[in-house]
Amino acid sequence: MDTKKPQSAPAAVGDPIVAASAGGFQAGASRAGESAAGAQVTAQQAVRSPIVGMIGAGQLARMTVGPAAELGIHFRVLAAAPDESAAQVAADVALGDYRSPEDLLAFAAGCDVVTFDHEHVPGSLIEAMEEAGRAVRPGSRPLHYTQDKQAMRERLAGLGYRCPRFQAVEGPEDVSNLARLTGWPVVLKAVSGGYDGRGVWVCGDMAEASVVLGHGLQLIAEEYVRFDRELAILVARSPAGQGAAYPVVQTVQQDGICREVLAPAPDLTLAKAAEAQRLGLDIAAALGVTGLLAVELFDTEDGLLVNELAMRPHNSGHWTIEGAVTSQFEQHLRAVLNLPLGSPSLATRCAVMVNVLGGEDPDLRSRLTHVMAADPGIKVHLYGKSVRPGRKVGHVTALGRDLGHVRDRARRAASYLAWGTEETGEYR
Ligand SMILES: Nc1ncnc2c1ncn2[C@@H]1O[C@H](COP(=O)(O)OP(=O)(O)OP(=O)(O)O)[C@@H](O)[C@H]1O
Ligand SMILES: [Mg+2]
Repeated sequence: MDTKKPQSAPAAVGDPIVAASAGGFQAGASRAGESAAGAQVTAQQAVRSPIVGMIGAGQLARMTVGPAAELGIHFRVLAAAPDESAAQVAADVALGDYRSPEDLLAFAAGCDVVTFDHEHVPGSLIEAMEEAGRAVRPGSRPLHYTQDKQAMRERLAGLGYRCPRFQAVEGPEDVSNLARLTGWPVVLKAVSGGYDGRGVWVCGDMAEASVVLGHGLQLIAEEYVRFDRELAILVARSPAGQGAAYPVVQTVQQDGICREVLAPAPDLTLAKAAEAQRLGLDIAAALGVTGLLAVELFDTEDGLLVNELAMRPHNSGHWTIEGAVTSQFEQHLRAVLNLPLGSPSLATRCAVMVNVLGGEDPDLRSRLTHVMAADPGIKVHLYGKSVRPGRKVGHVTALGRDLGHVRDRARRAASYLAWGTEETGEYR
């Protein structure tokens, strides 16, 4: 391993694992800025399984349970209730409230490394865990940029990355000023707390913007980007500085919710793929991310723009469970434990993931048999969540050689699970 390379040097396409800095790969090896108390490997830790604690027990934590078991990692989740998605299947579940300092500190005290299933833990509590000497990965500093869209835009713009033009919103004049510059529509976004398009409003004129301003939320205004398509790049970075970039994928959103992911992104030039991989690795290094970083991108006539960041397993990476040599869930565990990263290479020609959103009839299981029989190659993942219309309750993945065919198969399966009909066209 060449230890003289800069951290997170750009990936050559086809050579997706890049750069390990000095420091070795022992679980918990510490770096400047990380608490020594929380990051040292004790003799006791060396002989027992490391304990990784994930705050939150949604589907991302649920999908981490299998890879943790395979690697002999003791995986613990902090769940609000025993029926949450991951709490149903994890062997070690702590019940508690991620907004309670006592619950968080008690949870962290029993773990070697703490990581996250979602972005909603208050920043001050993440800092409190760090101050208590816990190894929190990613740390409070990088996580801040996933919790505050204004801070994220300002930081990325400061680092020289291209983003949609934006404006902090103090009052209506800020929105009209941006609209004068960019034209309508203008996108208003809640600075914090949004997900799956909740907290994103496309406003056609000032009257529509005024309704959103009336919600009393802290907002930013953004130009409405007429992108050709949306892409995402998923990278991992370990505390030792090793980086790995997955192939760039295309994501399809509807009403702010990810509907499908095509891996690798079709018809992407090698130059643009390399640019996106470099961008992901460089942002991860610049922000000091440990674990996974997903960067959502707009692919436009004028090049790539950064939409937003997530520092955890991401919907755009679910295809890696079957479609890559190392799934994103295994990779996140490796990264937060400071283990050598796994290969992010494709294990197939192409993979298509389609989310299963709840339909009108909640009885998914009655439709599962048909899906399994109709296409034995389809991989179904159900999250154990109660079915409500529009709620993400699972996903399916198809692998193969021909993207059109693979996409068709994945769409049919997801449609049948949700609706009982095999639709391959527009999403409902
Ligand atoms: N400036 C923009 N111009 C055009 N479309 C946009 C813009 N910002 C967001 N969108 C659309 O809305 C979707 C959701 O936006 P964004 O990713 O910012 O919100 P989110 O709710 O935080 O999403 P997530 O669930 O990924 O956290 C985007 O994927 C994109 O389709
Ligand atoms: Mg998004």
